Parts: sequence; C-alpha cells; structure tokens
Amino acid sequence: TKPALIDRFGREIRYLRMSITDRCDLRCVYCMAEDMTFLPRSEVLTLEELEQLAQVFVSLGVQKIRLTGGEPLVRQGVVSLVAKLSAIQGLKELCMTTNGTRLAEFAEPLKAAGLTRLNISLDTLSEDKFRTMTRHGRLASVLEGIDAAISAGFEKTKLNCVALKHYNADEAGQLVEFAMSRNLDISFIEEMPMGEVTSHGRVAEYISSDELREQLASQFTLTPSAEQSGGPARYWALPGSASKVGFISPHSHNFCGSCNRVRLTATGRLLLCLGQEHSKDLRHVLRSRVGGEQDLAAAIVDAMQIKPEAHSFDVESSDVQVVRFMNMTGG
Ligand code: GTP
Ligand code: 5AD
Ligand code: SF4
Repeated sequence: TKPALIDRFGREIRYLRMSITDRCDLRCVYCMAEDMTFLPRSEVLTLEELEQLAQVFVSLGVQKIRLTGGEPLVRQGVVSLVAKLSAIQGLKELCMTTNGTRLAEFAEPLKAAGLTRLNISLDTLSEDKFRTMTRHGRLASVLEGIDAAISAGFEKTKLNCVALKHYNADEAGQLVEFAMSRNLDISFIEEMPMGEVTSHGRVAEYISSDELREQLASQFTLTPSAEQSGGPARYWALPGSASKVGFISPHSHNFCGSCNRVRLTATGRLLLCLGQEHSKDLRHVLRSRVGGEQDLAAAIVDAMQIKPEAHSFDVESSDVQVVRFMNMTGG
C-alpha cells in the first residue's frame, strides 16, 4: 500500500522515534548540561496519549517505533507502555535506545512485553572515564545491563558509542573487541551540536568516522557490508566475527537523503528533523480533542510538508546550532 506519510522530497516516513521522558539518571557531556532542569510532569505526554499517538502513526504506515528519552527506563510504567504498543496491529518493530543502567532489572520484562530490539549506549570501558563522560553512574551497571539484554534474547541488540577525540576515541579498538566478545554490533557516532555544552569543546572533540575507521583498520580487517538497518549507520564487517562496526556520520557522510523518520518529543511536539526546529504541536491537537483521531491523523499528514531536506550542522563552528538539548529528542 502507498504510505500516507511522504514528504516533499519523496521520502517515505516509516519510522517514529518517541521520546517518552526528558529525564535521565546520567548527564552525558555531549547530551545535557550538568545542572539540567527537567520538565514539569503536566507538560509530558501521558502513557495513554503516547499510545493513542502511536496508533495513529501506525495507521498512517509507520512500521517501526523506537522509544527514547532522556532515558526511557526512568519513565514510570514503561513496561506497560511497551506491552500496549507491541499489541498495535501493523507495527513490525518496537525498539528502544537506552543507557543500559537499569537493564539488569528491565531486560526480561521488556522482552516479555514485546520489545523486539535494544540499542545500548557504551562510550567507554573504563570506570573513571565513564564517570567523566556521564558525570554520574557506574559503568558496572551498564555492563550488567548489556549481559541481561543478551540473556533476554532480543531479536537484535546493538551498542552505540559517541566518539570524542580526547575522551574515548583511543578506546575504539577495545570497544570493538568487547562487542566482538559478545557477538554484538557497535556503531560509532559523530557528535552533533545540540544544546549548549560547557564542559568540552565540540570543534576540538570532533573526530570523523573515516579517521576512526582508519585507526581501527590498523587493528582489524574491516570490509564494507551491505547491511542496512533502516537507520543511518553504514556498516563494515569483521571477517570471522558475527559483529559489525557501524559509523553514523551526520557531518562527514550526510544521510538525510534517505531519511525515513520523524520524532516525537516528550511534550508531544512532532519534530520533522533532528537538526532543525520545524515542528507541529500534536499535544495541542490531542488535548483540545476537537475531531479526535481524524484531526490527529490530518495534522501528522500535513506536517510532512514542512519536513526539511536536511540538517545544517556545521562542525567547524562552536556556536550553539540547535538550542534544544538531545534529551528532548532522544538522539
Ligand atoms: P537502528 O534502528 O538500530 O538503525 O538505530 P538508529 O541508529 O536509528 O537509532 P539509535 O537510537 O541507536 O541512534 C543512534 C545515533 O544515530 C544517535 O546518536 C542518533 O542521534 C543518531 N541518529 C538517528 N537518527 C538520526 C537522524 O535522522 N539524523 C541524525 N542526524 N542522527 C540520527
Ligand atoms: N551527538 C550524537 N549522539 C548523541 N547522543 C546523545 N547526544 C548526542 C550528541 N550530541 C546519542 C546517545 C545515544 C543516542 C540516544 O543519542 O549516545 O546513543
Ligand atoms: Fe542520559 Fe542518554 Fe543523554 Fe546520556 S545521552 S545523559 S544516558 S539521555
């Protein structure tokens, strides 16, 4: 069937990323300010509102939903939300991106509730560096969480690492070895300039995917892989291993031409691009309750007309480029 959600550039929108909370138990340097203030609860969509919106998106052809945050696992009721969403007819994949700190407790219940895939952030294997990069938290809890995810037996579990030149880039090889030891894929991500950060210089911390891949090539054989996850990563295979290495390169290899996604912020703002402000306030439509689901569907279809062609991040500039912090959009 012809999808209902198609933008001015002919891109079909099949993937919805839903931020279900702006809160998080960590304060990663590339994501948040240290003294973050969070939204009052009344601003955040309720579980019922999230479910209703998900249903409308699926009726419009969305096949994949990824729950993000903040940290999705700090949201009260997250497991029952997963159970509700996984029951929606027509939804093929229900995924989550998490920092992993609570997975030891949540991996099994999430799997039982119907979550199909998990992406877990892992930036370092050093407890000290973990504290530097996340400002809070224990690496051990994440490592336990990763093992719990593997035992729970999701269709797919992957690791994500935001690479910063002087923080963790030197550990890339060890992170790949860790991924290989657990048969997981790992993706390295170029940092995006979201929100004003004060603790590190974004221009100085930039390391391109090509530079990182060349560094890894001295230790591993990397062969281009055709694997397409429907996400922005480009993958390289490691001969003899089940693991693949992905690179998400918003700066050096723009992937906007094949964008298939939109985002919902925790407050119900439909964001048409991660790196732009074009948006539609769906919470307003939802809470004014004029024409019910028909109005919602119409508002979502309309919003496709304002989806921008691409982000306009500039790695050379230290100016604040997108005022909103990453915890509003879950990456
Ligand atoms: P898969 O569904 O497994 O392919 O995952 P994904 O890459 O779509 O999702 P994930 O939450 O793991 O995102 C990994 C990184 O990619 C995060 O840092 C996101 O910010 C970034 N990312 C995901 N989608 C986009 C996008 O549309 N534009 C940009 N610029 N970055 C994105
Ligand atoms: N640039 C790139 N990726 C980021 N993430 C958070 N902030 C940024 C940023 N500024 C990543 C997290 C996680 C996903 C949700 O987004 O590490 O993998
Ligand atoms: Fe929390 Fe994820 Fe942001 Fe880190 S990147 S502060 S874990 S939401």
